[in-house]
Amino acid sequence: MADEQKIESLLAQMTLEEKIGQMTQVRHFDDITPEDIKTWFIGSIIHTQGPTPGTDAAGWQAKFVELQKIALSTRLGIPMFFGVDAVHGQNTYSGATIFPHNIGLGAAANAELVEQTAAITAVEARATGFNWVFSPCVAIPYNEKWGRVYEAFSESTDITTKLAAASVRGHQGQPVSLIATAKHFIGDGATDFGVEGGNTTLSYEEVLERLLPPYRAAVEAGVGSVMASFNSLNGVPMHAHRKLITEVLKGSLKFDGIVVSDWKAYSRFGGTDVINAGVDVVMAVEGDFNMYVEGVRQGVVSGVIPQERIDDAVRRVLRQKFRIGLFDNPFPDVTLIPKIGVQAHRDVARQAVRESLVLLKNENIILPLQKDTRLVVVGEFADNSGFQSGGWTINWQGTTENYAGATTILEAIRKKAATRVLYDKDGQGVDGDAEVAVIVVGETPYAEFMGDIGGPMNKYQLTLTEEHQKLVDQYTAKGIKTVVLLISGRPLVVTKQIEQADAFIAAWFPGSEGDGIAEVLFGDYDFKGKLPHSWPTSEDDYTGKYGPNFWDDRVKPLFPIGFGLTYTNPRSSKNT
Ligand code: BGC
Repeated sequence: MADEQKIESLLAQMTLEEKIGQMTQVRHFDDITPEDIKTWFIGSIIHTQGPTPGTDAAGWQAKFVELQKIALSTRLGIPMFFGVDAVHGQNTYSGATIFPHNIGLGAAANAELVEQTAAITAVEARATGFNWVFSPCVAIPYNEKWGRVYEAFSESTDITTKLAAASVRGHQGQPVSLIATAKHFIGDGATDFGVEGGNTTLSYEEVLERLLPPYRAAVEAGVGSVMASFNSLNGVPMHAHRKLITEVLKGSLKFDGIVVSDWKAYSRFGGTDVINAGVDVVMAVEGDFNMYVEGVRQGVVSGVIPQERIDDAVRRVLRQKFRIGLFDNPFPDVTLIPKIGVQAHRDVARQAVRESLVLLKNENIILPLQKDTRLVVVGEFADNSGFQSGGWTINWQGTTENYAGATTILEAIRKKAATRVLYDKDGQGVDGDAEVAVIVVGETPYAEFMGDIGGPMNKYQLTLTEEHQKLVDQYTAKGIKTVVLLISGRPLVVTKQIEQADAFIAAWFPGSEGDGIAEVLFGDYDFKGKLPHSWPTSEDDYTGKYGPNFWDDRVKPLFPIGFGLTYTNPRSSKNT
């Protein structure tokens, strides 16, 4: 029987409670007890921040097998999806291969490489028991104050569109074994002043022209789900935007997969309006579960939610479950476990790191470093894989500690160097007779609104912290050569530091493979990365960019999008 017939036959047998269950996504802890899966016919489980399902991959799989068996024991035996925020590798698992965040992949702009990184992410996600990932983020950020700039590939619609399609192809594989999620639909990166979940002031035509193309490409590549966004569009919450979700995404683009809500969206964005706008599965987490299930039930009974809307949602969920063969193979594949973090995966991540690095300055050609150059490496960011990986690494807000399997920048430099490499962690001045200082500065990890500049947390700024500015001041005043390596989730205002240093590299959040940085520093490979964003000169210069008029032609960036020097062509960003 064809899948569509199987879907209709199942749907015909389902009660309203069973249908609502398929439209429900909860965490495997706190939100429900295992018994609730049976009582409420839960359709999917999400794992993100919180207690891990087990101590190792076998333990994670075992937990999901246990929960899946409960789902299979229900009257219709519909298996569950297990979803995870694997946004740069299976980043919730310590020991997985962690890739550069998307902004780095945007700098590399290599679709084939993105496809490979996504395919590896899918293998490692499946190895830990998942069949649904909430990635790629295909936002187009126009405002560096937004705390999620690094989750997106680029401010260019074209680059984002090309890489979005590659990412979907890589994640899902052929035949499709896991579903990917294009997120967050739509306007997440274009909110006024870069506020996470704020209002996006754009005309309908601008949304279609500038922000929709990556979604069209993702849908054409067969993406299984699309996540609705926290932002509003001209005052209408995206979760309740029927025109864009139902008419444009499902209608014009012919998307036949699942529209999944974002975190607690049912209680945040108007309850039944969310379902009526076209959202098919709701993250009913952190106390929303009972209210959601009861709200939808009442909505259908009272006629506020048409039965046809519920049936459309359930069809979409079942379609993706059949598509990945979940009814035939409901359990994770144990043979994938040994593949987590293997060298072949790390080699691809290392290539991604190399290609993501953007050389902004190389005065007097001080780079590449010679193997016997006497070096001092400076700053705590140099020897901490948590700092070099950004948010969404081990924890939602990232980690400030080393995690399993990662190589720090200092470790990688020490492997390459032929002489002793000194390390000055916090500017104590242990530079001995060093000829060159490699100073690593940047932003500590953050995710979502916590990383907004000028947001409620007010923890981040467009410039380096005073402490990091001092490190650069201190070492550039010594009269030795200096290379500044910037670890950041967005372009920062570092005009002064670029002037001070002899060489300056934007390294984004490279992830677990510090070796990729050392290989380029020492000239085993040339630089390839080109800026995926225009780079600000000063905070003032970008006032326009930071307001609703972010396409302000009067803004002259320090470096335009696409800039990036190379060893073969050290004075121009154009390829020879
Ligand atoms: C984020 C999403 C993420 C979801 C699940 C939300 O807060 O906006 O990107 O997929 O949480 O963890």
